[in-house]
Parts: sequence; C-alpha cells; structure tokens
Amino acid sequence: MSDLLTPVRLGALELANRIVMAPLTRCRAPAPDYVPNELMARYYAQRAGAGLIVSEGTIVSPQGRGYPDTPGIWSQAQVEGWRRVTDAVHAAGGRIVCQLWHCGRLSLPDYHGGEAPVAPSAIDPRWKMLSPAGPKPTVTPRALSGEEIAGIVADFARAGRNAMAAGFDGVEVHASNGYLFHQFFARCSNTRTDAYGGSHENRARLLFEVLDALGRVLPSDRIGVRINPMMNRYHGIAVDADTVPMFEYIVDRLNGHGLAYLHLTEPFQPGQLDGVADALHEVAPHFRSRCKAPIVSNGGFDPARAQDWIARGLCDAVAFGRAFIANPDLPSRIRHGAALAQPDTKTFYQGGEKGYTDYPALDVCAA
Ligand SMILES: Cc1cc2nc3c(=O)[nH]c(=O)nc-3n(C[C@H](O)[C@H](O)[C@H](O)COP(=O)(O)O)c2cc1C
Repeated sequence: MSDLLTPVRLGALELANRIVMAPLTRCRAPAPDYVPNELMARYYAQRAGAGLIVSEGTIVSPQGRGYPDTPGIWSQAQVEGWRRVTDAVHAAGGRIVCQLWHCGRLSLPDYHGGEAPVAPSAIDPRWKMLSPAGPKPTVTPRALSGEEIAGIVADFARAGRNAMAAGFDGVEVHASNGYLFHQFFARCSNTRTDAYGGSHENRARLLFEVLDALGRVLPSDRIGVRINPMMNRYHGIAVDADTVPMFEYIVDRLNGHGLAYLHLTEPFQPGQLDGVADALHEVAPHFRSRCKAPIVSNGGFDPARAQDWIARGLCDAVAFGRAFIANPDLPSRIRHGAALAQPDTKTFYQGGEKGYTDYPALDVCAA
C-alpha cells in the first residue's frame, strides 16, 4: 500500500498521503444560521489523517440552499464557525478545502420562502429532495436572468474570500452531481438561448466566470473543481451524445487555469450506464492524458483498487466518501490492512453525535 500512503502535491496543497476525504453532506449545521459548530469541528478533526479533507458542500448564498441544516459561507458568523473547524483540523495535522455549493433546481420552495428554486431553465428535475419535514418532490424552477447569474458569480467570489478568511487551505467548486453548474452543462436541463445556453462555450460559461472570479480572490493553485461526467438518470441528469464532448471541452479549458486538482467521480452505482451508447465506463483514464492538473478519483473505490489506480498512474489521489463516515482513521486502517467498518445510512443526513462522531478509531476497536 506504499503508493497510496506516499505524499503528493496538488498545486499549492502538500498532502501527507493520497487518501482524500470526499465531500459529505451531513446536515449538522443547524437552522436558522447554518453555522458550523463544535460537533462539526470534532468530526473533521477525527478525520485529519486524510491527506486532504474536502468539506461537505457549503452553500454560497441563501439562494443556493437545497437541504436541511447544511452549512453556509456567506455570513461572518459562518466564517467564525468554520474557523473552529479549520483550526481543529490543522491542530491535528490535516489539510481542508471548502467545497463551494449552489444547488440550483435540486431544492424545494421550503428553502426559499415558498418561492421556486432557480435554475438555467424552467425544467423540473422530477426528483425527491429532503425538506426539514422529510422527502418531497421537486418543482419547476424559475430560469435565472443574466443579471442574477452575475450575482451568483459574485456570491462565489465572496465565498472564496470567506473561505480563506476562515482558514481553509483552498476551495473546491462543486460542479458535479446535477447541481447548478451541472444543470448549465447538460442539454437536458439547459435550453437557454442567451450566452449561457447552446454551445459548449456557453454552457460552460458560468463555471469559467466563477473560476476567473475566484482566481482574483485566492491563488488558482488552491482551487479544485469537481465534476461527475457520467452521472446518469440521477438528480434529473442524463448522459447523451453531447456529454463526453462537453466534458472534454471543460477539461481542456481548465488546463488554462493552473488549478490545484481536478476531482472526478467514476460511475459507481450498479446499472448506472446500462444501455447508454456514449458512456465512459472509466472516467479518469479517459481524461488523464488531456488534463494538466493532478487528478483526484472518487466513486466506489476500496483501498486495493485505489492503490492499483495510483500505481498505474491513472490518478494522483483517491477520495473515499462512505468509508470515511464509518472509519475516522481510514488512512491508519489502510496502513495496517485493518477491516473497515460499515456506515449506518440512517444517520447520513440527520442526527447529532450518533452516526457522526461516535464511530471508533482503530485503537479503540482493538481495545
Ligand atoms: C452522505 C453523503 C453525502 C454526500 N455529500 C456530498 C457533497 O456534499 N458534495 C459532493 O460533491 N458529493 C457528496 N457526496 C458524494 C460523495 O462525495 C462520493 O462521491 C460518493 O459517496 C461516492 O464515493 P464513495 O464510494 O467513496 O462513497 C455525498 C455522498 C454521501 C453518501
């Protein structure tokens, strides 16, 4: 397992090992202020053995909300709350970047005073989202005006500034999983006829405007981007004949930005790409040769497969999601070849300490 456990540099980020903690929404930053608290600081510090922690999706503005009790990074109180988290992670020897998130149409009127959520186009994703009272069907969103899009770019710039003020080592732009940026990329969710719809350049415009704006408030080699090109029939997004060329365009253009890393999700759900004509069954190997930035791969990896991909040079680091929920000391378990605990899905998006900070570390297990 030596390769997975060796240091690596992602832009300005020096990682002690190649095991990244994937971003994981855990819904523990309580309404009405969505301020990270001591419990969250403890949770992240427990996982500081990761070479890099990517924070849970962190909302850039009230308009970007889509889940209960997800933390924000628009207010001073949120910056101070995150400072507690970053201090705790750094004190434990870790590194942490802030995943910047706008849910777009994957949201509910419950989060917007009864109004529809916003999106590139007025197309209902026909999904179920979690309201404070349980799952509810999505609605037809309201299409954003050009002026509002400029406001979203400014919101991301403020979030980047705030993230640095909060002591993060950098930021990751959440352009994956069917949320706002992905809604702009995909033809099924973007039928705009202005500068943000139609061509590859237009559908990618918001991402590059945000990257330009972030590049003015923090060094580009502290910015990562996450994409999930093969997400299919999930969160209202479908792969079509344009998907691969669209993401090739995005990856090629990202090369001009000197990013810290590109974070790619592999298809990992059973049957995810069944019957899809233009699918990539392995994403990182497809993009490796055209991507100048280091690649972090994610999605259904176990330690052996992660080790194999790193040894074969298919990626530079591997992010583990669910494994980090139940194994706070995942790198240490991998080092010792120890068994991995299984997470309790019932506490993924709710609860306090239970299913959050009460998973034991290896030495406790052995005792
Ligand atoms: C409880 C939970 C919350 C998640 N929250 C986020 C998130 O906030 N941002 C994001 O980009 N992905 C999120 N994901 C996706 C994970 O980062 C990861 O892509 C997925 O779990 C697959 O990786 P794994 O097989 O290692 O778990 C979440 C996944 C789970 C299970």
